[in-house]
Amino acid sequence: MLKVRSWLDMPDAPQGNPYLEGPYMPTFDEVEINDLEVIGEIPEDLDGVYLRNGPNPKHKPLGRHHWFDGDGMIHAAIFKNGKVSYRNRWVRTTGLAMEDEAGKALWPGLMDPRATDLPIAWGAGHWLKDVSNTDVVPFNGKAITLFYQCGDAYFVDPLTLETEGKVDLEGLKLRQVSAHSKTDERTGEFLFFDYDVKPPYMTYGVLAPDGSLKHFTPIDLPGARLPHDMAITENYTILHDLPLFWDPELLQRGIHKVTFFPELPSRFGVLPRYGDGKDIKWFETDPCYIYHVVNAWEEGDEVVMVACRHMEPEPTFSSRDSELSRMLAWLRMNATLRRWRFNMKTGTAKEEVIDDYNSEFPMVNGWYTGRKTRYSYNVTFADTPTLWFNGIVKYDLETGASQKHFFPEGWVGSESPFAPRVGATDEDDGYVVSFVSNAEKPEAEIQVFDAKDIARGPIARALVPARIPAGFHSCWVPGNTIA
Ligand SMILES: [Fe+2]
Repeated sequence: MLKVRSWLDMPDAPQGNPYLEGPYMPTFDEVEINDLEVIGEIPEDLDGVYLRNGPNPKHKPLGRHHWFDGDGMIHAAIFKNGKVSYRNRWVRTTGLAMEDEAGKALWPGLMDPRATDLPIAWGAGHWLKDVSNTDVVPFNGKAITLFYQCGDAYFVDPLTLETEGKVDLEGLKLRQVSAHSKTDERTGEFLFFDYDVKPPYMTYGVLAPDGSLKHFTPIDLPGARLPHDMAITENYTILHDLPLFWDPELLQRGIHKVTFFPELPSRFGVLPRYGDGKDIKWFETDPCYIYHVVNAWEEGDEVVMVACRHMEPEPTFSSRDSELSRMLAWLRMNATLRRWRFNMKTGTAKEEVIDDYNSEFPMVNGWYTGRKTRYSYNVTFADTPTLWFNGIVKYDLETGASQKHFFPEGWVGSESPFAPRVGATDEDDGYVVSFVSNAEKPEAEIQVFDAKDIARGPIARALVPARIPAGFHSCWVPGNTIA
């Protein structure tokens, strides 16, 4: 008799959704595999943990499944003394605990009609389950997981992957926290934002390294917005008001229809790190959308931000397109590297092209977040109907020069952070790490690259006899920072 391993094996499992198949198929096992077999050699001076978050739906979806709906699961590659171990754990969110208790899904997903009888809900406008599946950032020896539609901020132990509670939003009198809030690794501060469908449409704040609230201020926006990222420099924070957001008229009726408004400018708000929202300086540039910032820093009178500009913010559809084909179209990436310069003295802004190659999910050396960086490590995309990370590109942001490595056909990579060598002497003195998964079989590799020579291909490949589904964001937690 066929053993029923999960809801995916049940006769009523959803059919024909590519984001539940192949490299996106969730795993239902939480495993711990020490001292993995390695082809090549794990460097002795690679010490720390590569954490990657991503969606992994534990219970059968109530309705249609969107890739962004799955419960957050962290996958970890733990490097120590020339050896590497792998483990994975779901983030134990409040919503997942309630669904475990009920033995079934309780919240509809992004593509389903909004439910009115939810016991509790998160997201801008409180209509979703906070799955905490988007982002993972280091914080004070721990990691924090986050949700892009705003929710709680969960503390996760970077070695055991146990969920250890969450930021006490109620005690701190905060609303929610968005993914892509940032840790300044040099000061230990956590700089966060959230957005909502009611005023204040955005809030911004800073947590001290001990988790106490150091700063908080509302940000005045013309309406409900849908920012995905923010940027920080040593002294400033850059907040995004971009012309891709929920159609305001439909939103009044509880319908979340993401729409691009090309008649509106892009606005970037530059605020001193501990500044009051009233002191924000807005800069206007061409209408665009940005999912991910590479980094930002200060140069003389200018605040400089490098990001991946999305080249087609809203896909075009015909009336015959199904919900599924619409989801696939929205999930495609077409983004190129740009540099924005905001002159704090003259109030002018300009945008410069760095390169026109399609790449996204950028990572920099985390120690340089908010400080001038020369290098970015992005992923490249296969020409497939689903979002498929097929390689890594290292950019020299000053010259636009790049070097690339592509994974073998049938394998899909992950966002690939930079991991400094112990005793590193310059920005790219270290490694780049990635999970690279077989799209058809439950096997994966932890690949290690020399950051100075990505094109050489992996210098070490640790073999993981488990399924690591494709996912979202990642970070590197240096070994000497782990509590
Ligand atoms: Fe993101």
